[in-house]
Amino acid sequence: MRQIIDFICQNCGYRSVKWLGKCPDCGSWNSFVEEVRNKQVVNKEKKQIVEPVKISQIDLLDSVRIITGIGEFDRVLGGGIVPASLVLIGGEPGVGKSTIITQIANIIANKGHKVLYITAEESLQQVRLRAERLSALSENFFILAENSVDNFLAVIDKLNPQFLIIDSIQTIYLEDVPSAQGSVSQVRECTAKLMEIAKKHNITIFIVGHVTKEGTIAGPRVLEHLVDTVIYFEGDKGHNFRILRSVKNRFGSTNEVGIFEMTERGLKEITNLSEFLIGNRVIGEPGSSTFVAIEGTRPIVVEIQALVSSSNLAMPRRIAMGIENQRLNILIAVLEKKLGLPFYSQDIFLNVAGGLKLTETASDLAVCMAIVSSYKSLPLPHDTIFLGEIGLLGEIRPISQIDVRLKEAKNLNLKKAILPVNQHLNEKFDVTFISRLEEAIEICFLGV
Ligand code: TYD
Ligand code: MG
Repeated sequence: MRQIIDFICQNCGYRSVKWLGKCPDCGSWNSFVEEVRNKQVVNKEKKQIVEPVKISQIDLLDSVRIITGIGEFDRVLGGGIVPASLVLIGGEPGVGKSTIITQIANIIANKGHKVLYITAEESLQQVRLRAERLSALSENFFILAENSVDNFLAVIDKLNPQFLIIDSIQTIYLEDVPSAQGSVSQVRECTAKLMEIAKKHNITIFIVGHVTKEGTIAGPRVLEHLVDTVIYFEGDKGHNFRILRSVKNRFGSTNEVGIFEMTERGLKEITNLSEFLIGNRVIGEPGSSTFVAIEGTRPIVVEIQALVSSSNLAMPRRIAMGIENQRLNILIAVLEKKLGLPFYSQDIFLNVAGGLKLTETASDLAVCMAIVSSYKSLPLPHDTIFLGEIGLLGEIRPISQIDVRLKEAKNLNLKKAILPVNQHLNEKFDVTFISRLEEAIEICFLGV
């Protein structure tokens, strides 16, 4: 068996015969690690005689999707689990990946399907403890503590499960691949092997993968293209709610999110996150504005909080939680230039209450209004929502999905909206259209 040593980018999987400081593919620095592989492993595939089929004779998988009954989960997968698919669930350690997968495994097992859960991280006792907490003790739910893929393949052959769960991809290994567990080669070869099993034996496989600080599933963006569906579990430790987001789905849209709350007894669906987020809002305090975000296809009412206080630093602080720091800096610059506010002597802190992360520029107006409200120590009307993108000239620009947002605001008893001029809407609402930032200030603070 001939060994080949080459170098591989941990970030994107790009291979090179020599070490490189910068990856020519993804541009990351210092990402190349040495990888050893056996020539034989690479060329191992056996030749098979395959026949083409008529396109009209291919069965549609949709008709046989398995509905778990956890609506938020089914929706993210595009309407239930597609048999024989390979699904990757990524997320930071501790976010709840093992919890949700145990709950799902139990539901599937209760429907009469045989489920095999391979725990390569935790002991059998730990898995059992979690399962007890979740009342997930179905008769069809089998557990195996094993790290070697070669070993558990034999178990799969014997048990013949319809569902397989691998927790996690970073802790299993193929003996033929000489690199360490969790390395790019191991993770990729193991995933490719699992894909082969899924398609050959008609087994649905869920793979758990930890994400690194940079936000990719350890090393592998390479892994994402191997599997059918990639879903990420997001949320931070300080808050109970979690968002399940689909980032790739061969069987459905990637526009969906599922929202859960981590409770004492596992993850529960939240059908109304808006209420959950703004239910405890303090009314009448300066520095708080209300915005309606869109997550996937769903509107969520969020409170944006700002604190502006005089700074003793030569470089005052700008700290944003829940929106990009860069966006905050741009908005502060617009406020300084267009409204003449002296922010060079002020620290500015911004927080999206509840820990939600906003990615839309539609929140610009709400962010600016919270900042100005804190700076002037004057509260904004608590029943008003602010929607609009702000351009570098201080102009307010139209945003998307306005009707959905207004409808959600109405459901939560919010009465008024300040919106960009030229914004077309069908929903009936008490709205004021503005074309410039100054107009919003005029309306809310009577030009103070
Ligand atoms: P876990 O699913 O082990 O996370 P991951 O597999 O993503 O690393 O769960 C992590 C946290 O969830 C852990 O701190 C304990 C907590 N938890 C609950 O709050 N309630 C529960 O019912 C369970 C099972 C876990
Ligand atoms: Mg886990």
